[in-house]
Order: sequence, then C-alpha cells, then structure tokens
Amino acid sequence: MAQQIVRCTHIERELSCFLEQFNPDGIFLLTDENTDKLCFSRIQSVTKLQFAKKIVIAAGDENKNVETISKVWQFLTENGASRKSLLINLGGGMVTDLGGFAAASFKRGIPFINIPTTLLGAVDAAVGGKTGINFNGLKNEIGAFAPAVAVFIDASFFQTLDHANLLSGYAEMLKHGLLGEVREVGEVGGLTDVLGFDFDDVDYKKLNDLLFESVMVKERIVLEDPTEQGIRKALNLGHTFGHAFESLSYQRKRPVLHGYAVAYGLVCELYLSFLHLNFDKKLLLQIARFVKENYGKFAFDCNDYPQLVELMRHDKKNENGQVNFTLMHAVGVVEINQTATVEEIFETLDFFREY
Ligand SMILES: NC(=O)c1ccc[n+]([C@@H]2O[C@H](COP(=O)([O-])OP(=O)(O)OC[C@H]3O[C@@H](n4cnc5c(N)ncnc54)[C@H](O)[C@@H]3O)[C@@H](O)[C@H]2O)c1
Ligand SMILES: [Zn+2]
Repeated sequence: MAQQIVRCTHIERELSCFLEQFNPDGIFLLTDENTDKLCFSRIQSVTKLQFAKKIVIAAGDENKNVETISKVWQFLTENGASRKSLLINLGGGMVTDLGGFAAASFKRGIPFINIPTTLLGAVDAAVGGKTGINFNGLKNEIGAFAPAVAVFIDASFFQTLDHANLLSGYAEMLKHGLLGEVREVGEVGGLTDVLGFDFDDVDYKKLNDLLFESVMVKERIVLEDPTEQGIRKALNLGHTFGHAFESLSYQRKRPVLHGYAVAYGLVCELYLSFLHLNFDKKLLLQIARFVKENYGKFAFDCNDYPQLVELMRHDKKNENGQVNFTLMHAVGVVEINQTATVEEIFETLDFFREY
C-alpha cells in the first residue's frame, strides 16, 4: 500500500529517473486547462514524455464528475492503454482525485502517479490513496482507495497559485503540524516552524521542506490505517466544525475555500480540546491568533448556532447519531471518536466569535 513520496529539487530529473526505471508500455498525462498552461512546461523536456498522450479536462470541482471521467476512460481506450500503461496526474486535488479513480477503475486498475500542483493537492489530496468523483450533487460519492505508485512533491509549482489557494492548502499543513511529533528547535517541520511561516514573502524552498515533513505526517497515519477504521480519523481534526462552516458559506452564497473553513474549524476543535482534554490554553490562543491574522474571521452570529449544529449532525463522519470530533490532549496526542453537548458547541462558537 506504501506510496513512494519523492521530494523534488529538479522535477524533470526525478521524473526522468522514475520513468526510466518504471518503464511503462505507454504514458498518458492528465491535466486540466490551467495546469496544462501553467505547469506542463515544467516537465515537458522529460524525454520519456515526448511520446506521452495528453488528456486536458475542464478545470474546477464542478467537472469532477462522471461525464469527465468517462471522457478519460474513452481516451484511454481509443489510444490503446493497457494494464502496463502509466497515467500521470498533473494538477490539483480535482485532477488527482479524478485521474486516480480513472486509473483505479480502467481495466480493473492501471498504475498512476501524482504530481500535485496546488498546495492542498500536495499536502492532502494527492497522498493517501483516496480517489473519486462527485455524483448526484454529493462530494466524492463514487470512488476507491487506490494509492499512487509515487507522488512528486515540488513547491515551485505553487508560484502561479493565488494567495487564497496557498493559504487554503496551508491550513492542512497546520493540522499536520498539530498531529505530528513534537520537534526540537532547529528540526524542520515542527509546529513552531509552521506557525512562523511568512506569507508576505514566500520562500518556496522552505515551503518545500515544511511540506515534505507535513506530507510524511499524513503518510504515516495512512499507512497505519489505510481505510479509515480508526486512527486515520485523526486527519479529521478541524473538519467537523470546518465542514459546517464550509456548508454554511455555500448556503449563504459566499463560499469560503475548504482550507479556510478548516483553519476556523481547527480553532474551534482546539477550544473543545481545551474544555475536554485540557489542551494547553496558551497554544490554543497562539493558533487562534495565527488563524485570525492570516485567514481573517468567518462572519456569523448566535442566530446561526442551531443551523451549524444541524450541519454537524449531518456530517458523514458521525456514528450512532452522535456528532463525532477528533480532539487533542497535546501536540501529537490525539483522541478520536469524541462527542460534545450542544451547550459545549455553543460555548465554542462564542469563543470563536469573540476571540
Ligand atoms: N483525496 C483526498 O484525500 C482529498 C483530500 C483533500 C481534498 N480533496 C479534493 O481535492 C479537490 C480540491 O483540491 P484543489 O484545491 O487542489 O482544487 P483544484 O484541483 O480544483 O485546483 C484549484 C484551481 O487551481 C488551479 N491550479 C492548479 N494548479 C495550479 C497552479 N500551479 N497555478 C495556478 N492555478 C493552478 C486549478 O486549475 C483550479 O482552477 C476537491 O475535489 C477535494 O474533494 C481530496
Ligand atoms: Zn481537509
């Protein structure tokens, strides 16, 4: 089940090396219209890609659907893809989710690799083996657990990414920083490093180092529990409140990016962790400040509380009708399958609004 995670310094070189060794009988490259324009040129010179057949799909999550995937299957069929062919997914989470599932389902599964080009894709979607498409208005309704053969991590792709998408992905890095091991000062990748990152003057080399450490936190958790029977739920930290905020923002027609909702959700769930498990208040306030400074506030008032609780009740992570949270005792010490009373949820929302 293990995926090879390749930390790139010169992606053409690392990719060439991999393709020489892997030696597929055909190479297919999936991009969306943006990554085709902005990212393909970075790997175009790889010799083995000269004969690759390229499929370009429309960008955006609304196209992560059965119509698009059937075009991909069609293309693979018409161009003679076999079980020994390789699909390369070059794009954000939309491309790696859809391409991963196209590969997992074509002829019962052909190998694929991911080259994530968004920060959210790199830190989350491209790693961990969850692939799929939206169906019937439901997110990721159809899909499969199917790990990529390899994932190539190169932060220099993010230079063309807008600030909001960069921050959106960074929220998942903050989550991994909380879930990961406590690090000594000077060791790369600890929470202190994550909280110290300067978004006004982005250092992509430093981002690449932090990102690689962050990806390894997810990879370690996924290896322990690939199909989310237990500890993989740790990765849901921030996502119970986060999904409720995200849904509310869509209902209001003022959508926030997924990672922004997760950043707000992390503050809330660390407050709940403080209530239930004695999570350090000073660290909670430090993270709340980081989120407020970089992500701003999510506007709602106490009239929205019942609606938010209702949204949490409908979260697909729930079991036995109870709202399910992942909480923390301390950095690196997680407690899954936690619940909270409506009063505690309201108190948490008060804290979030007032901080
Ligand atoms: N499989 C998983 O475990 C998992 C985890 C998290 C998210 N996801 C999925 O990931 C998707 C969201 O990922 P995303 O935010 O990467 O979305 P995305 O792939 O739609 O990318 C966002 C936008 O950025 C553009 N883009 C991509 N790379 C770029 C670059 N380098 N420069 C400029 N623009 C670029 C894309 O064309 C798109 O318009 C959702 O479908 C979500 O369900 C999956
Ligand atoms: Zn997420």
